[in-house]
Amino acid sequence: MGRVSRHSGKLSFSALALAIAAIPLAGAWAAAENADAPLTEEQMAKGRQLFTDNSCTQCHALADADAQGSIGPPLDGDANLTHDFVVDRITNGSGPMPSFGWLAPEDIDLLARYIVQAKK
Ligand code: HEC
Repeated sequence: MGRVSRHSGKLSFSALALAIAAIPLAGAWAAAENADAPLTEEQMAKGRQLFTDNSCTQCHALADADAQGSIGPPLDGDANLTHDFVVDRITNGSGPMPSFGWLAPEDIDLLARYIVQAKK
C-alpha cells in the first residue's frame, strides 16, 4: 500500500513539474508565432472597433473600417506596414500623429495586427 502511493505520488509530481515548465515556453512560442497569424472574425471586429474608437479614422483612410481621413497617410496599400512598425507608430506617435501609448498593450497589438490584415 505505502509503496504504491509513494510511487504514484512521484509520478504526479513529475507530471506537474513538466506542466509548469511548459507554461512559459508555450506562452513565448505563441507570442512569437502570433503576430502574423490570421485573426478570427471576432478579432477583426475588435480591431475595427479600436480603430474607430480611437479616432484613427479621423486621420487615416482604411476601407475595411470605412475610414476616409486624409491628415495622415492612407493605410490601404501601404507596404511599410509590418506589425512591429505599426505598434511603434501607435505607441510613440510620429510628427503630427499623437501617441496612443496609454492603450493596453494587448489592444495595441490587436490594432496593429488588424491594420496589417485589413489594409488592401
Ligand atoms: C491627428 C491625426 C492622426 C490620428 C488621430 C492618427 N494618426 Fe496615424 N498618422 C498621422 C500622420 C500625420 C502620420 C504621418 C506621420 C509621419 O509621417 O511622421 C501618421 C502615421 C501613421 C502610421 C504610419 C504610416 C506610414 O506608412 O508611415 C500608422 C501605421 C498610423 N499612423 C496608424 C494610426 C492609428 C492606428 C491610429 C489610431 C490609434 C492613428 N494613426 C491615429 C496622423 C494621425
